[in-house]
Amino acid sequence: MASEPARKRVAVLISGRGSNMVALIEAAKDPAYPAAIALVVSNVPDAEGLKRASAAGIATAVVDHRAFGRDREAFERALHAKLVEHRIEIVCLAGFMRLLTPFLVREWEGRMLNIHPALLPEFKGLDTHARALAAGAKRHGATVHFVVPEMDSGPILVQGSVPVEPDDTEAALASRVLAVEHRIYPLALKALAEGRVRLSAGQCLIDGVPAEQFWQRQS
Ligand code: GRF
Repeated sequence: MASEPARKRVAVLISGRGSNMVALIEAAKDPAYPAAIALVVSNVPDAEGLKRASAAGIATAVVDHRAFGRDREAFERALHAKLVEHRIEIVCLAGFMRLLTPFLVREWEGRMLNIHPALLPEFKGLDTHARALAAGAKRHGATVHFVVPEMDSGPILVQGSVPVEPDDTEAALASRVLAVEHRIYPLALKALAEGRVRLSAGQCLIDGVPAEQFWQRQS
């Protein structure tokens, strides 16, 4: 009998509640899913998501950035050592609130994803929902992209959008977008873990097709 290909060992990096982390853990419960969540790391010792990961039986680690003062690279070296120790192959940032230096980005080039709550390249940075409302955006959403040195700027793997309703509050819009995040992050990780994703000239190809076209064909 042919043996199944090994599932990719994934670490999820969090700083807070970890709802995207939970979405990835849930997806990986399916034995057919090509990735296993092997580790959750937080830079915040009391992050709520750590408890949720432990409850799901997943190994957790804390690398507290405050222990490294202003030396961001020293923090990242400690974090990287944890990832290596756990034989991690893919890293998913999920509400990980640290700006990364070129050190970590280079170490994980092409193997590190982030989820951002906006339709990049619009609304990079923080407070995306309030800014989308203030700008009168008709649609808003979320993006999973590869991490590059410039924040919220890497090749886009998948996007999902929702309408902005006329009477939307920031909270209502945030929760509509969050549901999209929970749907698209597992899809993006699946494609990457299956080895179907290639980066070419700063663009993301899936099965050789530009990512946007690939997902349009799926829908
Ligand atoms: C999400 O909106 C994510 O897009 C952003 O930070 C938030 C994290 O939420 N990067 P959670 O911790 O996954 O619930």
